[in-house]
Amino acid sequence: MTESPAPPHAGDDEALRERALTALLAARDRTTLLTDSVDDHDLTAQHSPLMSPLVWDLAHIGNQEELWLLRGVAGREAMRPEIDGLYDAFEHPRATRPSLPLLAPGEARAYASEVRGRALDVLESAPLGEGPALVRSGFAFGMIAQHEQQHDETMLITHQLRSGPAALTAPEPPRAPDAPTLPAEVLVPGGPFTMGTSAEPWALDNERPAHQRDVPGFVIDTAPVTCGAYRAFIEDGGYGERRWWAPEGWAMVREHGLDAPLFWHRDAGQWLRRRFGVTEPVPDDEPVLHVSWYEADAYARWAGRRLPTEAEWEKAARHDPASGRSRRYPWGDADPTPERANLGQRHLRPAPAGAYPAGRAPCGAGQLIGDVWEWTASDFLPYPGFAPFPYREYSEVFFGPEHKVLRGGSFAVDTVACRGTFRNWDLPVRRQIFSGFRTARDL
Ligand code: AVJ
Ligand code: FE
Repeated sequence: MTESPAPPHAGDDEALRERALTALLAARDRTTLLTDSVDDHDLTAQHSPLMSPLVWDLAHIGNQEELWLLRGVAGREAMRPEIDGLYDAFEHPRATRPSLPLLAPGEARAYASEVRGRALDVLESAPLGEGPALVRSGFAFGMIAQHEQQHDETMLITHQLRSGPAALTAPEPPRAPDAPTLPAEVLVPGGPFTMGTSAEPWALDNERPAHQRDVPGFVIDTAPVTCGAYRAFIEDGGYGERRWWAPEGWAMVREHGLDAPLFWHRDAGQWLRRRFGVTEPVPDDEPVLHVSWYEADAYARWAGRRLPTEAEWEKAARHDPASGRSRRYPWGDADPTPERANLGQRHLRPAPAGAYPAGRAPCGAGQLIGDVWEWTASDFLPYPGFAPFPYREYSEVFFGPEHKVLRGGSFAVDTVACRGTFRNWDLPVRRQIFSGFRTARDL
């Protein structure tokens, strides 16, 4: 029982250099769109105390790139040592960032693009094959492309929280013509499988190393829980019945008077939602978005089910019973494409449940990658043999029972930061993130 052999690009330095260049350019295109689509006032405003001003993300992206690629890989001097503290996420909580003496929009753009120009020069000559661990296989470049794309997802959340007319548009996602013929749930037989990875060159520290897990048989939803299914929970009085909720979840519901996912409201008996500046009817067939872990947990209990554990989720997504191996993605080892998954902000919403037949796993579950981040039952903990790399503040300081794991990526995350092993985490009260869930049950 092992992982698939290392992906074809893993040992090929020139292929990795090319992938790094493509990933860095794609990230900057996205960052530019997210920051050029609003005016300077919107860039510097605080749209929510939960988020940074967009202009902070922009300069922080440049600062992390300078730190890791120019100072780390190439050993250069700091370009503007006086700004490092402003863009250190641990020094200033998000709510206080608008009051810092941040770089103005024009300065932030110029700084990020100056860093980028130099970073591309470093990439051209970096000794990927024989270099230190930070540059080997282009890791630092892949890490920085992932970092920028993660902040692009964060900036898209800020766009969603911003009031005012729409600033972004995108084509509609594909439909799900065979949805009515799909089973509601699928079986994943018991037995060991390989969790995590030691083969993926740009996997982050918390995804490593590959290790065996025994997972008893279970049944899991074919698709994420839809808005229509979630509405049945609401209409059955789910938010008013203590018995469905974890104690802290019940406290959250009472304290904030919650009665629906974030961004939903009822108008003349109809559920509406606000999505990137537009108010529209809640679509019954679309995976539910903007629910906290507590809401996902309560829904599952109401439905007589439970959230899958992180190991169950990964086994459903990666285990190939034919070969006994864990693969990179549900569909196999090939990279994501627009036919396989809703990723990369190509669409600004999840596709209906049952879409993406080309992306299904051997067990029959679909939309595991893309569409909505899926809450799991599990706390964010290190795998056996975990080693922090290259810095403790990426993962290690967040390990513990206060964070729950989310899997699979949303429509807002790019392919470079999404794979079968990728782990995201957040507090169980969070709902501004692009979070949904699917449920499971014991055999
Ligand atoms: C892994 C998404 C929780 O956004 O806080 C960005 C990623 N780490 N900059 C976050 C991250 C440092 C992180 N998450
Ligand atoms: Fe960051």
